[in-house]
Amino acid sequence: MSIRTGVVDGVATIEIARPEKKNALTVAMYEAMEQALIAAREDAAVRAVLIAGQPGVFTSGNDIEDFMQRAPGQGSDAMDSPVFRFMRALLDCDKPVVAAVTGAAIGIGTTLLLHCDFVYVSDEARLAMPFVALGLVPEFGSSLLVPQLMGGRRAAEKLLLGDPFTPEQAVECGIANAVLPAGEVLAHARRVAERFNHLPPGAVREAKQLLRAPQQQALRAQIAAEGAIFARRLRSPEATEAFQAFFQKRKPDFSKF
Ligand code: COA
Repeated sequence: MSIRTGVVDGVATIEIARPEKKNALTVAMYEAMEQALIAAREDAAVRAVLIAGQPGVFTSGNDIEDFMQRAPGQGSDAMDSPVFRFMRALLDCDKPVVAAVTGAAIGIGTTLLLHCDFVYVSDEARLAMPFVALGLVPEFGSSLLVPQLMGGRRAAEKLLLGDPFTPEQAVECGIANAVLPAGEVLAHARRVAERFNHLPPGAVREAKQLLRAPQQQALRAQIAAEGAIFARRLRSPEATEAFQAFFQKRKPDFSKF
């Protein structure tokens, strides 16, 4: 199992722990994270959730081999896939979610941060959403939320070109709260999560709901639209070329498309 979970001092921790594959997320890992989020929601002793990676890497995103072997089905099947169920549990989590971005956060590693309440990034972190370069499209609301955060021009650099963000840029555009030295980011994020032990949980829950309510409908509609295109594109010749190139450690060749 490459997800470690536990509850300490009112904080449910989800630690991504597959360093040998740069914390790439498999179907089984999404399932474990979904279960941890559901359990955190149901446990009254849990006041906040902390998502963390390993030193030097938060997550390199979806496991690309899983993309090739176990791509979610299309249509309604895609919406019931493990990654969708995990992201739905994150969106539905009514307790504060804090992310400690200890290193690279690629693909869904950055997308999921858009749905956390607090994000602390290490000064060594790099964030990127290279979906188009993989023959895919933005996912889980990023095509709505990223332009809102930074404007359409800069969103095009991040979502069409896949340009990475430095930690400072992530803070400047509002994806992250603060940059911390690599050795301090996890402890800082935990301290923020623990502050909810001293706040009234009902008020926190309802305030979080209010913060998110205004664009819930638009967000869910965009997620469904992105998901349908993403599932189709996973089977496209462009994506197949990109995935094969990744494992063959070569540059993809899109000249034939
Ligand atoms: N899926 C599957 N395997 C992955 C992976 C992923 N998303 N990311 C890394 N790995 C594997 C590599 O294949 C390699 O496996 P190997 O040792 O069997 O060859 C191992 O993890 C180490 O990765 P490597 O690329 O050698 O590490 P690095 O330090 O040079 O680079 C990253 C780290 C995160 C920058 C780089 O691995 C990367 O770009 N990964 C893919 C990111 C991506 O496109 N994610 C999907 C977004 S939708």
